[in-house]
Amino acid sequence: MTESLNADPRNGGAPRCPLRDGAVPLYEQAGSLDGPLWEELRSRFGRIAPVLLEPDLRAWLLLGYEENLHVLRDRSTYSRDTRRWNEIRDGRRVLGAELRPTMSYRSSALYADGAEHARLIAPIDDALSRLSDARIRAEATDVADRLIDDFCEHGRADLIGDYAMMLPAMLMNRFFGLEDAYGYVLGELSAGLWLDDGARAAESVAQMRNYFGGLVQRKRSAPGEDVTSWMMAPEFGMTDEEMADQLVLLVGAAHLPTSNLIGNVLRALLAEPATAREFASGALPLNDLVNHVIWTEPPLPMLAARFPTRDVVVGGTPVAEGEPLIIGFAPAHADPKLGRPGGAGGSALDSGGNSAHLMWGAGEHRCPARSLAERVVGIGVRRLLDRLPRLRAAVPADELAWAPALFSRGLVELPVLFDPVEAPQREAPAPPPAPAAPAAEERPDDLLTRLLRWWQGSGRSRRSAGD
Ligand code: HEM
Repeated sequence: MTESLNADPRNGGAPRCPLRDGAVPLYEQAGSLDGPLWEELRSRFGRIAPVLLEPDLRAWLLLGYEENLHVLRDRSTYSRDTRRWNEIRDGRRVLGAELRPTMSYRSSALYADGAEHARLIAPIDDALSRLSDARIRAEATDVADRLIDDFCEHGRADLIGDYAMMLPAMLMNRFFGLEDAYGYVLGELSAGLWLDDGARAAESVAQMRNYFGGLVQRKRSAPGEDVTSWMMAPEFGMTDEEMADQLVLLVGAAHLPTSNLIGNVLRALLAEPATAREFASGALPLNDLVNHVIWTEPPLPMLAARFPTRDVVVGGTPVAEGEPLIIGFAPAHADPKLGRPGGAGGSALDSGGNSAHLMWGAGEHRCPARSLAERVVGIGVRRLLDRLPRLRAAVPADELAWAPALFSRGLVELPVLFDPVEAPQREAPAPPPAPAAPAAEERPDDLLTRLLRWWQGSGRSRRSAGD
């Protein structure tokens, strides 16, 4: 901490709390969280910066690679439980709508510590380990192909809305054991959570409850060979409510980061000529391209949050018990102490071979689906490149806009052109039970039926789910 931060000239030079004074309003910069900002914070504050997540909502942002890794790993000192947030706990603040999806407590593994975490993560670990390589490959390829079929004859597409945002949600829906019609619904509802449109976000939350409640209902009565049914195995003793919370976590954790990573890899290929050349020449393998993107445009620039269980000193700065520490993946990846593997002007070949980034987390809460996510991203990118001849950007790189979000780094749109190709005939995926069928009418409590009926009536769907 520098002297200028400790002494407040307006207060006769008395020491002041850096978290209270001079905190940087990050919420004003959502969408432009990148290199110059991290450099500015580093030069002003060093290894950890006081920031505002909302007007008057203070947090610490970890800027250094070592500090981030230390906090992620030290589970006895840094809790993941958002109920420990001192200002919220003491009733001094309530969370605004934007932060609620990432910061509100839910009884899922993500917010649990120690033994409770071990209990809640066990069914997730078990279910993910039962997804065979062959099944992941077959399902991911089929979902990718069906999404590409929807636009390959048009010669143009938005690779974010038409593809990257849909693929992980459709795939998770299949792994959960539901028909594709619900995957379209899930994809658009889950994407709706991140929109600025508060009314639509609230509607998405309400309908997601029907999705997860209905999924649990369905699998309790008719289990199958799927993630939901495996997680419900008696040895895990999960209640319906706990099941729904863990499924919400799975979709939340799987959807946007994977969508962003697919989109950011495609952006690098379409908007960074040097990277595209290195990839096309074969010098930059796909895995290394993904690493390069993780270093330079991590799909989660920041992560909420860890709460010290006692007063601590981090990066030379005192942090009080219960003050939120935001994990800074993007600033950590640009930490000059690392020799900047993905630094400005650096070649993708320099950063790509280096996989020591923090993108999969570390310690107790590290991502349990790293290899699944890597395979899905690889298949998603490869299928698109294999199927669309002469794929090219439809707008100049500087017209591509990042979505205005604090905890997510993904493009709003990625418009592309390509030579149109005919969509092959495919066997239709299994249809969902028809909502208007008498059986469904007799079961008004069937939440999935209610969801699909709402969906078909809402007229918002870009695809006719269930037709
Ligand atoms: C590019 C894609 C992905 C990235 C970058 C990513 C990254 C991460 C990170 C950084 C964490 C640590 C969270 C923390 O420490 O607070 C995490 C946790 C988690 N991820 Fe992933 N993830 C991705 C994809 C997935 C997928 C596809 C799934 C599920 C199929 C998944 C499931 C989870 C779960 C359940 C947790 C919570 C683990 C716990 O709290 O113990 N993730 N992920």
